[in-house]
Amino acid sequence: MCGIVGYIGKRDVAPLLLEGLARLEYRGYDSAGMVITSPKSTGLKMVKAKGRVRDLEARVPKRFTGTTGIAHTRWATHGAPSDINSHPHMDPENKVAVVHNGIVDNAAELRAKLEADGVVFASETDTEVLTHLIARSQAETLEEKVREALKVVEGTYGIAVMHADFNDRIVVARNGSPVVLGIGEKEMLVASDIAALIAHTRQIVTLDDGEMATLKADEFRTYTTSGTLTTATPETVEWEAASYDMGGHDTYMHKEISEQADAVDRVLRGRIDEKFSTVHLGGLNLDAREARGIRRVKILGCGTSYHAGMIGASLIEGLARIPADSEPASEFRYRNPVVDPDTLYIAVSQSGETYDVLAAVQELKRKGARVLGVVNVVGSAIAREADGGVYVHAGPEVCVVSTKCFTNTVVAFALLALHLGRIRDLSVADGKRIIEGLRKLPGQIQEILEGEEDIKKLAAEYADAKSMMFIGRVRGYPVALEASLKLKEISYIHAEAYPASELKHGPLALIEPAMPTVAIVPNDSLLEKNRAAMEEIKARSGKILAVAHQVQEKADHTIIVPKNEDELDPILMGIPLQLLAYHTALALGRDIDKPRNLAKSVTVE
Ligand code: G6P
Repeated sequence: MCGIVGYIGKRDVAPLLLEGLARLEYRGYDSAGMVITSPKSTGLKMVKAKGRVRDLEARVPKRFTGTTGIAHTRWATHGAPSDINSHPHMDPENKVAVVHNGIVDNAAELRAKLEADGVVFASETDTEVLTHLIARSQAETLEEKVREALKVVEGTYGIAVMHADFNDRIVVARNGSPVVLGIGEKEMLVASDIAALIAHTRQIVTLDDGEMATLKADEFRTYTTSGTLTTATPETVEWEAASYDMGGHDTYMHKEISEQADAVDRVLRGRIDEKFSTVHLGGLNLDAREARGIRRVKILGCGTSYHAGMIGASLIEGLARIPADSEPASEFRYRNPVVDPDTLYIAVSQSGETYDVLAAVQELKRKGARVLGVVNVVGSAIAREADGGVYVHAGPEVCVVSTKCFTNTVVAFALLALHLGRIRDLSVADGKRIIEGLRKLPGQIQEILEGEEDIKKLAAEYADAKSMMFIGRVRGYPVALEASLKLKEISYIHAEAYPASELKHGPLALIEPAMPTVAIVPNDSLLEKNRAAMEEIKARSGKILAVAHQVQEKADHTIIVPKNEDELDPILMGIPLQLLAYHTALALGRDIDKPRNLAKSVTVE
């Protein structure tokens, strides 16, 4: 969603905040702003701009110097993107500045009360409510003022606050939106994401919900919103600052697609147990007896993670023979689901912060369910809330749309399915077969990536389509769904995905020369059925691009991918379609890393 970065120390703060914002821009990018000060200064200086961080940078006045500051890059929820609605928000006397991620649910009510008291609002945002509440507090310390304001606020927040009368500190608080402290040498940082910190420090403190912190240049303190001190020992983060750079690629998406062989290697590393033809997953917290007692698996995620969960469900069902399905977390939490003690719930999330997934996990835990997380960001909210889980080790993913993380998540599910399968009825021979298949993945991914030039040519051929159909059957269906999502997210071409078997029940009506179809056609027991679906399309003069293990005669073009085990084929079949979406969007001149209207992590409902 939005991004926060703050700094207190000795360095010139404005360039540092701009650099931090640029690293966070993938979380939101419709407007940006910052407020700065210095110990000698008596006031707060602000600059804000609608648009990208570079628009803000262009607007920073000369001699905008200071050593303390907070900054924000926004993805609008309350109030359209504009200079005024961008953060920080200040009170009329320019004493208090607030940056906020999340949503104040009772903003309208609080706003009405404040207006009745004579407060005049400058913006349409929910955040400005917080600013006035803090500014009007009669409490003596900034910490107390913030605490008082938060007492009446309902909703989610990650906030950073500065006050002209307390300019030796930044006060921060978290409830549902991530806040991470970066501990430096005589300098402290705060951000909504370690991406903004990692160039400066590897020592990180992640706040819990209900926690606050005071940052001064040479110390930090954490405490609960009721004032009780908490102990926070900094952890050292492993991700390299270089993982946040484009490393010679033109876009993060291209970089992240290209990294997939290494990423898959990482998720496998140290986990394969040849002796028992299984895998070790150290963080699962699920013993063999408990694993045998599972009668059903329910996977919950949003967007691409939901699709990864669909492939995960088919892997678990296939290898462990446990009925499994994946559902959008947002739907699940609103349908008052029956929570069954023998069901294993698995929350999937790259960021580990997606609000709907987190809320589903919290609801499940409240009802006594066992919840595992399949998560990329170590120590994120969902990872911490879950009873155990599997980290997917994809490394930082910056492009708004997910590629390497999708692939690694599916591989993590394959590991989990193999683990559960070998505790249950999967034979040693089948365990070996899957392990051999997993080991082949990085090399086969590299082989697919080497075919990029051919896929680029195909993309040029299909880029003028107004609409595209994606079809797949059983294991191929989630591949089709994910490929169609990827295409629409970054190219803005309308795309639909259907099970190939459903074509004749409706979508066939759409097929005509101007509506090409991408067909997922693995060499498995359903090959003939898939060929029949292609016949149906050809009979209606539809153009077909097949992703297959051998040339498909019915198709106009075939992208050939290397064959693995049937269960693992979906992992490989998705990869050329990431490249197809990428090159289509590139041919159309889209802003690939920051597609319109989307954000990397959606930390609000
Ligand atoms: C947003 C992003 C998607 C992502 C989804 C779930 O909608 O734009 O790319 O798949 O959130 O994110 P998560 O971090 O939970 O996997």
